[in-house]
Amino acid sequence: MTAPLIVGAMVRTLGAYPSGWRYPGAHRDPQADAPVLRRIAQVAEDAGLDYLFFGDWLATGPDLEFRDPYLLARIDPLSAVLYLAGVTERIGLIATVNSTYADPYATARATASLDVLTGGRAGVNLVTGAEPRAAANHGRDAHADNETRYDRAEEFVRALRLLWESWDADAWVADAASGVLIDAEGLRPAAFAGAQVRVEGPLNVARPPQSHPPVVHAGTSARSRALAATEADLALIAAGDPTVAATARAELRSLAAASGRDPDDLKVIVPVVPVVSETDAAARAIVDSLLLLVPIDDGSPAHAVRPGFPGNRSLASFLDVAGVDPGDPVRDSAVDDIVPAATAARFADAAARTLETVRTRTGRDVGGGHPVTWRHLIAAHAVPANFVVGGPAVIADHFESWRDAGAADGFNVLSAFQPAQFEAFTSLAVPELRRRGLIGRTGDTLRERLGLGAPRLARAADTVPAR
Ligand SMILES: Cc1cc2nc3c(=O)[nH]c(=O)nc-3n(C[C@H](O)[C@H](O)[C@H](O)COP(=O)(O)O)c2cc1C
Repeated sequence: MTAPLIVGAMVRTLGAYPSGWRYPGAHRDPQADAPVLRRIAQVAEDAGLDYLFFGDWLATGPDLEFRDPYLLARIDPLSAVLYLAGVTERIGLIATVNSTYADPYATARATASLDVLTGGRAGVNLVTGAEPRAAANHGRDAHADNETRYDRAEEFVRALRLLWESWDADAWVADAASGVLIDAEGLRPAAFAGAQVRVEGPLNVARPPQSHPPVVHAGTSARSRALAATEADLALIAAGDPTVAATARAELRSLAAASGRDPDDLKVIVPVVPVVSETDAAARAIVDSLLLLVPIDDGSPAHAVRPGFPGNRSLASFLDVAGVDPGDPVRDSAVDDIVPAATAARFADAAARTLETVRTRTGRDVGGGHPVTWRHLIAAHAVPANFVVGGPAVIADHFESWRDAGAADGFNVLSAFQPAQFEAFTSLAVPELRRRGLIGRTGDTLRERLGLGAPRLARAADTVPAR
């Protein structure tokens, strides 16, 4: 029997599509994140999703307003999961930690605390970070290069595991009659001394109920794949195409096997943005609105003075890619109003793909009563997204076909805007996924929910299985 898919929510309260916050009714005030986070957590738990997942970014700046507005101002991930631990009962809680800047003792402490407080629902996503501005925010001169960051990440995760194992499972004796509280032999230092990470231990938090909370790793480089293959329980990869994802997954599994692991212990997860509604047409109308809400350079001086406004959001930039010169069309005019006969047919490959994407996702066409405009093309070209657009059956078909192609063990579900699109996913698509038997794993701990076996303990002599 094929294993059920893992489905978690990758939470971005400001929405995962850059114009999502502008959608009518969308959450757009990060100072009011608390009730939205609680609502998302409740909805996710009621729907039976496996986890809530929080990314991280260690800097902000005005350029993010257009590129990734959700990164501008948001709750830090460990704070978010600790907050939600108190208002949820079953769902897993995964926080991203940047191993380039985080302290391993503090990270072991926070994650073990979360695991204890939730009875085994904690997970940690280790990343090495791609934001150079993080360096200056942490007293460093520069963001370290890829090799140095991954060298540190490897040491970081080994230190984390040793710290999590500070307490043997039976070291907390608490024998009131004899007055013996602990077995001191079972409290052991980490004594980790690497080139970049040094930590003594032991950890001053009880042994995590999962022994090792699941470790997620997200990255793209060869070093990232090597780290995921040896250390991760979940590898989060970026792939918009099932063939690409299947190749990456096969490589990760074979690297895991080469390192002595059972490849089934490494689950490969891909992010996806389902745009969901009752009908396919209604879902397409949402994408249509989202594209029209992307700010584009309309030639007015206002755009020229806005710091960080992306240079590719202009007609000139799109026409450059398209390789056509229709003169100076109005941005809101239909593509075929300008060069009726042949503009679309003459588009270079990349622009032709954008046109096809707009057609299929919005239901618009060239030459019809509901035409594609230049504005649509500029927006879709400048702000691409991993959208899957449609009613419940379309979304479920997508999940099922990726699973059947060996492209993914699960999905990190992003919502274009919050909370309505997340609620549409959980109320419309999740029942269909369940009806088809694509999801439905249960378990008391996050490890169990993810279909993971007992963790490989860092101390060879320590054979105590996970709870
Ligand atoms: C799907 C996905 C999501 C990611 N999310 C984050 C994140 O929230 N914060 C972060 O610092 N890095 C994140 N990363 C990892 C960074 O992209 C990665 O650390 C950076 O690109 C450097 O590593 P690399 O060279 O292996 O890609 C993510 C990566 C992927 C593939």
